[in-house]
Parts: sequence; C-alpha cells; structure tokens
Amino acid sequence: MPRYALLILPAFNRVYGESSVRLTRNELAVFSARALEGEVLASEETRIGGVPYVTFDTAEPLSDGDVRLLSDLSSVYAVFGVEGDLLRPLAMRPRDRLSSDLLTIQKYAGKTNEHFTKLLLNVTALASDRGLGDALAVFDPMCGRGTTLNQALMYGYDAYGLDVDGKDFDAYAGFIKTWLRNKRLKHTAETVPVRRDRALVGRRLNVAFGLSKEAFKAGDVQRLTVVNADTLKSREFFRPRSFDVLATDAPYGVQHGSKGGAGLSRSPLELLGRAVPVWAELLRPGGAMGIAWNTYGGKSDELARILTGAGLEVMDYPDFEHWVDQAIVRDIIVARKPG
Ligand SMILES: C[S@@+](CC[C@H](N)C(=O)[O-])C[C@H]1O[C@@H](n2cnc3c(N)ncnc32)[C@H](O)[C@@H]1O
Repeated sequence: MPRYALLILPAFNRVYGESSVRLTRNELAVFSARALEGEVLASEETRIGGVPYVTFDTAEPLSDGDVRLLSDLSSVYAVFGVEGDLLRPLAMRPRDRLSSDLLTIQKYAGKTNEHFTKLLLNVTALASDRGLGDALAVFDPMCGRGTTLNQALMYGYDAYGLDVDGKDFDAYAGFIKTWLRNKRLKHTAETVPVRRDRALVGRRLNVAFGLSKEAFKAGDVQRLTVVNADTLKSREFFRPRSFDVLATDAPYGVQHGSKGGAGLSRSPLELLGRAVPVWAELLRPGGAMGIAWNTYGGKSDELARILTGAGLEVMDYPDFEHWVDQAIVRDIIVARKPG
C-alpha cells in the first residue's frame, strides 16, 4: 500500500504546539474527502530519525495533481513517499504566486495567524463546488488588516473585504499600496468615498494588479476591493451571488489592543446571528462559508443553527478546535450554499 510522510512547518508547530499534528491530520482528511484522487486511508504521527512526521496510507498512489494539492496544506513543509526505511522527496508545487512576505510583514495585535487563515480558507474552498480552483472570488466580511485577503491573493484569487474599523482600513490600504510598489507590480489603487443619497456610507479601496506589465496591459489582473463599513450593510456594497468563498475570523469578544471600542459587537454570536443571513445572499450557489470563532462566546450547535437558518448546509468536518490563549479556544465551522 502506498505510504507517505508529511513534515510539518516549524512555524506551524510553534503556534499550535500539541494541536499541530491533529490539525494537520484533520486538514488532510478534508483534502482527501473533497479533492484528492487517492483516498487517504489512515494517518498517524510517526517519529522518523527522531523527528515527528504525519504519515498516511492511500488506496491508490497519489497522482501529480494530488501532490500539487497537498503542497497547499496550511501546515506542510515537505512531502515524501515512504520507501522502506527511506523517504523520497516529492516535488512540491504550491499555488503561491506572490512573495510570502505579503502575509508576514504586517504585525499587529488581533492579527489572525497566517497559517490558521490558510487552513480556514483551504477547508472552506474545499467545501465549495469549485474547490481550490482557479480565479475564485473570496470575501472576508470582517477582514481586519487583510490576512484572509492576502492569502486569497497569494493563491491567485480575487479578494474582497469589509471591516468597520477605520484604522484597520487605513493601515491595510497603506500596507498594500507600499507592498505593490516595493514589489514593482504594475497596479492601480484608489480609495474612494461611497455615498448614498449624497450621505457618506463608507469608503472603498479598489486595487488591480498584474504579475507583469504585459499581463496588466492584457487585462490579466487580480482584483482587491476593501470597504470600510459595518458588515451588516455588506449588501449595500456587493451584489448578491458574487462570491465563491466567504471566510472570516469573527471577533473573539475579548479586547485586542484597540479592538473593543464603540460600535464593535460585544457578543460575537449575536453579531453572527444577524450577519450570516446577509452574507449568505452574497454567496454563489455551490459556494461555501467558513467561520472561525471563539468557543467561549458560543457553542458550535448554536452557530450551526444560525447557518442552517440561513439556508446553508453545515459540513460534517473533523474537529479543528484548538487553544489560542487563556481567553480563546478557537474552532471552525463550514457550510455550503446548495447549488
Ligand atoms: C478577529 S478580528 C479579524 C482579524 C483579521 N482576520 C486580521 O488578521 O486582521 C475581527 C474583526 O471583526 C471586525 N468587526 C467587528 N464587528 C464588526 C462589524 N459589525 N462590521 C464589520 N467588522 C466588524 C473587527 O474590526 C475586527 O477587525
């Protein structure tokens, strides 16, 4: 039976400690159930040469496409075929098309860890009809300073975000413009006021960039749009059925630096109860919604009821719950919109 070994990124181990192997095995299980040709039969933690690996058997040898998909696991450092006592490196072909510092340069209180963000985006996209396809439209309706947006751009997707916090909006707009300039990527970027009946209802950052001058000229661009407004008003800024994937890390209900001021919800589940029906309208049929939340603020049953009430089907996914700090035990719930 074909056997493989996955080496976990040192940074992933550092962030998740004891949970990192379980999270990796569970993400692998989602990849297997939703995308791989070769079904993963069982996975376990194995020490090889004193180093921990996640090893797994598959019914069929992994295809090139499978290895390509596994290159996008949020925790993966390297993948090997196990041949007797030897490990044969498999050629990794991650989807990443931009420099990795897009995800790591920004550091601020309340940032969602970039590996976790990738995990959330991966398992949510895999629940959608398009999987980790090309040119998806991804929306983070509480995007902070853009970790989900950056991960989506990294994958070559178009990214759309919204956040009520004006400081986050300004900080992200400043960051992305500087980053595009420093990377010498041909782009356009503008921040415009959005008005309804002449009253200011929000601000919008519109960015388009190409990987080369030629690509940009030919219209081969990636788009990024960020709105500064309340998420309950998302419908005023985006059309129904616009997005393939909606992924967000909800407020934890605890203060992070400047977070927690007036206008921010103190009860994350109450906010989600009002926001999910609005967000569901923005998803395309066959699209998927993934929400990370602090389980101290509400149980997964309650969130499942909210999602089901909005006409979505909750995925039967393995357990992604993990400790973040003494006030936060985070979990993920994913649901799809019937096609
Ligand atoms: C956990 S943080 C997300 C952080 C983000 N993933 C990042 O890495 O920067 C939750 C975000 O929800 C935003 N938020 C809270 N209530 C909101 C509302 N009613 N409308 C829009 N955004 C809201 C907060 O401003 C905060 O940026």
